[in-house]
Amino acid sequence: MGVCVPEEYGGAGADFLSYILVLEELSRADAGVGVTVAVHTSAVTLPILTFGTDEQRSRFVPPLARGEHLGSFALTEAEAGSDAGALRTRAEPDSEGWRITGAKQWITNARFAGTVLLFARTDLDAPGAGGVSAFILDGDHIRVTRDEEKLGLNSSITNDIVVEGATIGRDRLLHEEGKGFRVAMTTLDGGRIGIAAQALGIAQAAYDAARAYALERRQFGKRIADFQAIQWKLADMATEIDAARLLVYRAAELKQRGEPHTEAGAKAKLFASEMARRQTAEAIQIFGGYGYTKEFPVERYYRDAKITEIYEGTSEIQRLVIARSILGLTERALAQG
Ligand code: CAA
Repeated sequence: MGVCVPEEYGGAGADFLSYILVLEELSRADAGVGVTVAVHTSAVTLPILTFGTDEQRSRFVPPLARGEHLGSFALTEAEAGSDAGALRTRAEPDSEGWRITGAKQWITNARFAGTVLLFARTDLDAPGAGGVSAFILDGDHIRVTRDEEKLGLNSSITNDIVVEGATIGRDRLLHEEGKGFRVAMTTLDGGRIGIAAQALGIAQAAYDAARAYALERRQFGKRIADFQAIQWKLADMATEIDAARLLVYRAAELKQRGEPHTEAGAKAKLFASEMARRQTAEAIQIFGGYGYTKEFPVERYYRDAKITEIYEGTSEIQRLVIARSILGLTERALAQG
């Protein structure tokens, strides 16, 4: 749970690319475990390491890195999905620090969370992303109101939560007041590389299963791998998986070197997730009728792959991020302050 966390904070001290390899391999076996670890690490532990004070780092990171606390990232709300800056959860100053009130939706890991990175509005009048701040909450500051029933990823818990006037100290504000949206966006820049690795792992598992089946299954007196129709499917799968892998590892290396990786991460997630949806469907096609049954794992890969096109920013949002970057619109916005 602390693969890429420095040893002084209780982690394994590996680099970011190693962590991405771990997510890929976990997701090859079980994508629900993959996202549990991805959200815990990319979306909770790493932003506390990046934006936290020394005190916050030494207090909150070691229990996360050692796996004693599970991390949960609470950004999304019913009316604030792709438009994350529209969130309405409030943080009002009081004598202790802050009083938090609101409701969040589709929160991975929430039911078992020990630490929750939660985004709330500290300035109700500031437009959009402007008045958002980031806070570090404990698991008992939130109340889980629902376990979501999903198409796939069933070994990962997804919850609706409410925060009912939880009072937290001033030391729970992560980074500066009103700068929480930047924390969220920077976090997602790295998190998206992890989801791309998850998609890659799922696609690899589907390919492995389809290739093995094609070499065994016989029809018309031959192995189906001897038919060009199946050979071309496997060739396309292998090629697209390689292409996704190179995009994912490139983005991970850029982040590891401390270089800009917003565009590279969005490209990796966009391509790897859409590739995983296409190729898990092809794996079912190679399995034929058996692929549609629970007897083989490929129907699970297909169900698990779909979410990678949606969470941590839909494919449409990734295209928006890429377009803003290649057209210079992000730099212009940043330059204008
Ligand atoms: N890095 C740093 N800062 C950034 C940034 C980045 N990549 N992108 C934007 N910002 C900053 C901007 O500079 C701006 O800062 P100032 O206000 O200080 O000028 C601020 O953030 C607002 O930026 P925009 O005007 O670009 O904001 P926007 O409202 O147009 O939204 C968006 C941008 C890209 C659409 C964003 O809302 C977004 O990413 N939406 C998708 C939300 C998402 O990915 N949700 C995932 C939920 S978590 C999850 O899924 C976890 C799970 O369970 C697996």
